[in-house]
Formats: sequence, C-alpha cells, structure tokens
Amino acid sequence: MRDKRNIKVIAISNQKGGVGKTTTAVNFGAALAERGKRVLVIDLDPQGNGSTHLGVDIYNLERSMYDVLVADEALANVIQPTGMPNLFCAPSNIDLSGAEVEMVAAVGRETILKEAIDEWHKQVEDTIDANLLPFDYVLIDCPPSLGLLCVNALAAADEIIVPMQTEFFALQGMSKLMDVVEVIRKRINSRLKIGGIIACRMDTRTRLALEVLDDIKNHFPALLFTTRIRQNVKLAESPSFGRTVLEYAPESNGAEDYRSLAAEYLGEIIVTETDDQVEESAHESAEEMTPERAVDSSSSSQEESQTRPEEASHSAE
Ligand SMILES: Nc1ncnc2c1ncn2[C@@H]1O[C@H](COP(=O)(O)OP(=O)(O)OP(=O)(O)O)[C@@H](O)[C@H]1O
Ligand SMILES: [Mg+2]
Repeated sequence: MRDKRNIKVIAISNQKGGVGKTTTAVNFGAALAERGKRVLVIDLDPQGNGSTHLGVDIYNLERSMYDVLVADEALANVIQPTGMPNLFCAPSNIDLSGAEVEMVAAVGRETILKEAIDEWHKQVEDTIDANLLPFDYVLIDCPPSLGLLCVNALAAADEIIVPMQTEFFALQGMSKLMDVVEVIRKRINSRLKIGGIIACRMDTRTRLALEVLDDIKNHFPALLFTTRIRQNVKLAESPSFGRTVLEYAPESNGAEDYRSLAAEYLGEIIVTETDDQVEESAHESAEEMTPERAVDSSSSSQEESQTRPEEASHSAE
C-alpha cells in the first residue's frame, strides 16, 4: 500500500491589494516543488494572475475554479500541469467574479472549497494509479477582499500566511483580517492557525521599509518570517513569461528569497542577513549603486546563520 501523506492547505491572504499574495503563492509553491514537494496552487482570484503566472491561458479555459465552486465540478478535472514537474495549478479567470453572488444562495456556501479539496484528496489517496501521486501542499491565492471567496479559502485552510508590503499602510486592515480569522476559527474551522507573516516587496534601500518591518515585528513578534522578500525586478517580469521566478531567473535575488522562505518554512536551517546588515547595505546601495543595480544586489551579505525561534509553528508536520 502507498504511503498516505498529510496534505497541508495554506491560504495566502491579505485583503490589501498588490502586497505580493500571487507572487508568493506561485514562487513559494515553486520553491517547495523544487524541493520535491508536490504542490497545487489554487487560484481563487477572478483576476487570474496566479494562473497566468503559471503559464495557463486564462482566456481559453474549458473548466476553472468557477465550475468547482458553482457547478459542482470535481477539482481533479480543473487541475493543470505547469512548467515545473511537481507544481500544478487550478486556474481561474473573470468568470469567478460571478461566483460570489451565485454561491450566496447555496447551502454550506462557506465550505464549498473545503469539500472540493477533501473529495479530491481522498480520490488521489485512494487511487492505485502510481502516476497520480499524493500532494503535500495546497496554496490558495486569495483575492484582495474578505468576501465569500476568502472565507472559503480560510474555511478550507490549515493555516493562513499573510504577505505584507513594507510600506506605510502595511498594518492597516490587519486587525480586521485577524478578526475574520478568529470568527472562522470559532464558527467554521477550528484547525485554522496563523502560519506567519512575510515581509514582501521590501525595498532594502529605504529607512521606511526598515521602520515598517520593526512595526510589524512589534505587533506580531512571533509571526514574522525571518526571510524577507526583497524588491526584485525579475519577480515583476516573470509573470509576463508565464513562468515562476525559479524557472525565469533561477539566480536572481527573487529566486533566492523564495528558496530561503521554503527552507525556513520547512524548518531547515537558513542563512540570512540581520536587520543591521540590511540597514548597512541599504546605505551602501543608496550611496554607491544605481537604483537598478541596488534592487538586485543590495543586502547580499549573508553571514549569520539562524533559525527562527518560533520555527516549530512553521514546520511541515
Ligand atoms: N518582491 C517583488 N519585487 C518586485 N515586484 C514585485 C515583488 N512582489 C510582487 N511584485 C509585483 O508587484 C505587483 C503586485 O504583486 P502581486 O500580484 O503578487 O500582489 P497581490 O497581493 O497578489 O495583488 P492583488 O491584491 O491584486 O491580487 C505585481 O506586478 C508583481 O509582479
Ligand atoms: Mg493577486
């Protein structure tokens, strides 16, 4: 008999727009896949950015997450392969924008996604087809809202990971998001825990970014991942090529940061910079480099080896 694996479902969520949810879902997923984990990215955003980023043509979808949520389509029937062997995508497009309205009348509308994932997981586990291997992670790329789609993601998730952009309004809306998590935990999904906060799109050249990072740390001391996702132009370019940054620019800072995040998440020892080093390199880059170069090569000093004290809460069981 085959090993039965535990699957972990992670909602990548923040109702704030443009903070790095999709970039994280795709590239964190790719970094886990590169380490041999089997990963499904569920695109739960009608913008379809995650699907496009993974190379899916969202304008010619036969079936999508809309059908899973509204028409009782099996999740297995919408899953598509991507350019990476262990990475799969359940795509969405603009059709999904109608789903929230259509789902309102459904009985158990908050748990439609959870049921679809459970059914698919059971089907994969029970099959004797050796090509259909069990999955390790499902990453749900949430839309920038706290509507029914997001509620479905949180109801299905074992944990929520929150990308935050290190800019002035970063913390705005966090208490609302935490309230929603609390309500979902009480009423629908008692398993739901907060997996962590990721500082994304971090411009290491500015003092503001460091100040905001401190703010996040003060508010959520046990939750912030040590790994920071720096601003990196390759991360911004790769979606237009329909490839993850690991495929598009495997040596870039963007690829390095998401690999580091995957290592940290899996509880492996990572090498990372301290905030002082970030600050130092921020000065260096501001003074000595062109902005373009600074984006790609600032803060490259990596001397300190450390694991996060709260590592256990992020480790894959
Ligand atoms: N670390 C980064 N460096 C440079 N550009 C980035 C980085 N992270 C994300 N971006 C770019 O910033 C924009 C917003 O990122 P992304 O789409 O991941 O955010 P989002 O939270 O999913 O947005 P939305 O709320 O619209 O779904 C995109 O154009 C993306 O390519
Ligand atoms: Mg997005």
